[in-house]
Amino acid sequence: MRLYGHEIDPKTLPGHVGIIMDGNGRWAKAKGLSRSAGHEAGFRALDRLLNANKEIGVKVLTFYAFSTENWKRPAIEVKFLMAMAKKVIVEYLDTLMANDIRFVMTGTFEGLSSDLRDMIQGAMERSRHCKSYILNMAFNYGGRKEIIDAVRRIAADSAEKKLKPDTIDDKKFAEYLYSPGIPDPDLIIRTSGELRLSNFLLWESAYSELWFTKKLWPDFHPKDFCKAIFDFQHRKRRFGKV
Ligand code: IPE
Ligand code: IPE
Ligand code: MG
Repeated sequence: MRLYGHEIDPKTLPGHVGIIMDGNGRWAKAKGLSRSAGHEAGFRALDRLLNANKEIGVKVLTFYAFSTENWKRPAIEVKFLMAMAKKVIVEYLDTLMANDIRFVMTGTFEGLSSDLRDMIQGAMERSRHCKSYILNMAFNYGGRKEIIDAVRRIAADSAEKKLKPDTIDDKKFAEYLYSPGIPDPDLIIRTSGELRLSNFLLWESAYSELWFTKKLWPDFHPKDFCKAIFDFQHRKRRFGKV
């Protein structure tokens, strides 16, 4: 089917797309706006994509919204991003549920205020029954932290004899990650021209196809998303085989 100018095969859609939404600050700077205004424009780009995805049909979308390293930003920006997270949950959850989108957070609650934590948990509970799509927010997320947290829980379960070390394999290990049950991303998109993962889904991205664009996140349009899917559908994934 033709979607946003690209010929997309609905049978081979990526089941899970991870998106590193980068470039809000540069977008704002280029327009003489505050970084906060850039983040607000970034949210509008996310909303635009979710709306378009009702037609495109990717089941799981993970958005990288705040990394464990982003705490190192100026306090005023961190404060704005935390306030924005609350505002988005309050104002957006009903829209998500009306579209049968389940809200999931992948990340750690460490360092978050108790009211934000409660709001996130509440949003996950309230939308648990939604089955068509998953909106997975990588918030307060770091790939290394996720792996370390898994290792700690594995070590604790081993010490308590709930887990035998020789039964730990890929599948078992993944059960200890933040969002077990969510499939690995087939495709990872990063905007803003940077060619790196910045600690995003390190374990889960082992065989993900990577797609980069110089466009800044607030300028990212569903047609760019469809181009990424089109390119994805023309790649040859071998998974180590011949
Ligand atoms: C991405 O945009 C959003 C977050 C990391 C929260 P940036 O804020 O990193 O924008 P640039 O990279 O400074 O342009
Ligand atoms: C990655 O963007 C994190 C998010 C999009 C939330 P950054 O802007 O934090 O990454 P670096 O610093 O350029 O690697
Ligand atoms: Mg950035």
